[in-house]
Amino acid sequence: MPLTHRYHQYCKARTAEIYSQDIELVRKYLTKPEQVLFYRMPVADQRHSLDVAGHLLAQLKKGQSTEKTNDIVTVALLHDTGKTAAPFSLPGRGLYVVLKKIFHPLPWLWTGLTGLGKHPKSNLWLRNLYVMQHHARIGAELLKEIATRPAVVKMVAKHGDPSAFPNSPEFLLFTDLDRVN
Ligand SMILES: [Fe+2]
Repeated sequence: MPLTHRYHQYCKARTAEIYSQDIELVRKYLTKPEQVLFYRMPVADQRHSLDVAGHLLAQLKKGQSTEKTNDIVTVALLHDTGKTAAPFSLPGRGLYVVLKKIFHPLPWLWTGLTGLGKHPKSNLWLRNLYVMQHHARIGAELLKEIATRPAVVKMVAKHGDPSAFPNSPEFLLFTDLDRVN
């Protein structure tokens, strides 16, 4: 994804707000413990998750309101909860995006660098890098602890990989929307 789009996302995150219809949506799709996790996210991440869920619903509406729809909307709302394992910092997120772009072609270096923030009491910048890199797995673990549906936990754990569930058009649509919102 081009850095210009990332910059646009950065600006959007700075002015994010939540409205009453958003609160209704959260109440409709999440259990009480899931709502607690959702509201633990910074407003910027809540807004992003709500936008993804809203677009998903708009595109799936013509179809059906099935278990699959409920699951994927829940995934959309909760997929980034793992990021709460580090204190939110927009500059920290920006640094992650830039460094990932630079170091991703060198996986051993990138793994080594992000691994430096593994301990919860690591330096905040390093902790941010680690949590951003592993937020899918961390989020899935948090959801498992509060007995979220296993199908949702599995998709959250793999939400960065569009090829993870090749037989699920809903998951593929979600990964597309997650990328652009
Ligand atoms: Fe996301």
